[in-house]
Amino acid sequence: MRFSCVVFFLAACCLCTAHSAEISTAASTIICAPDQPGRAAGIHAGDLNIFHSASLPAHEIRELAWLVIAISAAIFVVVEGVLIWSIIRFRKSEHTAGDPVQVFGSNPIELAWTIIPCIIVFVLALATVRTIREVELESPPAGALAVDVIGHQWWWEYRLPGAVPGSTVVTANELIAPVGRPVWLSLRSADVIHSWWVPRLAGKTDLIPNHVNHTWFQAEQEGTYLGQCAEYCGTQHANMLLRVRVVSAEAFDAWIHAQLQPTAIDASVATGRAHFLQLACMNCHTIDGVSSGGFGPNLTHLMSRETIGAGVAPLNPQTLRAWIDDPQNLKEGCNMPSLKLDPAQLDSVVAYLLTLK
Ligand code: CUA
Repeated sequence: MRFSCVVFFLAACCLCTAHSAEISTAASTIICAPDQPGRAAGIHAGDLNIFHSASLPAHEIRELAWLVIAISAAIFVVVEGVLIWSIIRFRKSEHTAGDPVQVFGSNPIELAWTIIPCIIVFVLALATVRTIREVELESPPAGALAVDVIGHQWWWEYRLPGAVPGSTVVTANELIAPVGRPVWLSLRSADVIHSWWVPRLAGKTDLIPNHVNHTWFQAEQEGTYLGQCAEYCGTQHANMLLRVRVVSAEAFDAWIHAQLQPTAIDASVATGRAHFLQLACMNCHTIDGVSSGGFGPNLTHLMSRETIGAGVAPLNPQTLRAWIDDPQNLKEGCNMPSLKLDPAQLDSVVAYLLTLK
């Protein structure tokens, strides 16, 4: 009985440690699958491995994971070793006669298998509490860039209120962040519970309606870090993809400067602009100085992004046209309907949106 308890404890430890790596692998498969129905090819496959951490809180999580794996592996080796030794040493042979010697209780052994697991659990608890304290800061780190993250079914809204005094940069699905500088995220939701998870930068943090959560990261290398919503939030949960582009401080300043430019006005696409205003587009999307819808992503600088539909396809004239024609083809169940535009209307709206650099 007690032996089976030890085996159960061991199995539980192994399952827990395998869990995070397993989720990471599963998410990686989803993002990397090149021929997934409904997803256009061309999205760059990303690294979602928590053991390839590239940011301060992610390093702490990785170290804790390794500690848990090491302890679990040691328990596995000891328990399986004793088991195999017992099977061989006490197997039935031609020299044994009758029942083996029956042993009823052993104080040293019982004390050992009570005290040692208690010590292991205590060590794991202390290490976990220490990691939580280091990962969950109560206030922003010095010099942090403040970013508000709002989860929507099924896309991410980013607002950078303090990047330039007096102005707020609003964008969607792709967060641009400066390398080496802490980024302090304030997370909330417009509808249901979502979870922001970019495994190489930080652990999961839920976005909860009517509640603000915080997380942070400080990326050490430039590059694109991928992630995805980690809390089931409806039909297109799996396509609520995260993309963080970490760039140099100069490139970040240039991006902020570009985002603060007024909306491009190009007389050659006046027809498309007029369609945008006459059709239902303007009810859901904001384009600064043109429309003020709040249900969908802000399109003021749409063409500064790499992807469309929260990462389901690369953003280019073809995917943009296909998306506006019928978003349900790329992202079935998403809240944007097909407006059944005729080809001429479609061309003019696409031409207009392509000028929003
Ligand atoms: Cu948002 Cu799952």
